[in-house]
Amino acid sequence: MKFLRGPGPRQEEVDQMLQAAMSAPDHGALRPWRFQLIRGEAIGRLADVAIDAVKRSGDKRMTPEKEKSVREWMAGVPLFVALAQKIAHDNTKIPEQEQLLATGAAVMNILNAAHMMGYGAFWSTGLGTYVEEVQEALGFDPLDYRFLGYLAIGTPACAVPAVQRPDYREFTSEWTGVPA
Ligand SMILES: Cc1cc2nc3c(=O)[nH]c(=O)nc-3n(C[C@H](O)[C@H](O)[C@H](O)COP(=O)(O)O)c2cc1C
Repeated sequence: MKFLRGPGPRQEEVDQMLQAAMSAPDHGALRPWRFQLIRGEAIGRLADVAIDAVKRSGDKRMTPEKEKSVREWMAGVPLFVALAQKIAHDNTKIPEQEQLLATGAAVMNILNAAHMMGYGAFWSTGLGTYVEEVQEALGFDPLDYRFLGYLAIGTPACAVPAVQRPDYREFTSEWTGVPA
């Protein structure tokens, strides 16, 4: 659910959502996930930092109209959670893709917890996710972290649209080990 408004989750609910992330599958118990909460007046500061950095990066898509719509969208969102994977440089046992998957699973746990509590949530890699200046401003130096975007969390601003999902059978087969 992209379009959100207040009220955002109470602190106890935020605690529960983030605690749910700690149960993600995690090979080697590396705990690679990192979260940065952004709320209140900090959301306006994030908008300034991200929009300015995206413009400076030369991204022509940040037109005045786009800037206006991004600022309006962000102003309605009560809570952003910036998401990152800490790269375990000294680890030789667990491939980095597994650390990334563990972090993705942790983020999914937050999404599921938020939705179970009746909030709307949306994973976005807008807001300068791939711009180094933004990554650094959020404390995720790309030498040590993969910045994975943001969760926006709040009260759904409209009815949650019913989405037609594909039939899982199109994506699934059964391996029997018997040659065809
Ligand atoms: C890593 C990641 C980044 C995403 N970034 C964006 C984004 O920047 N903008 C966007 O419209 N959707 C983005 N999405 C997709 C939305 O989070 C969401 O999955 C999509 O709107 C479909 O939602 P629905 O299946 O509930 O309708 C991203 C999804 C993932 C997993």
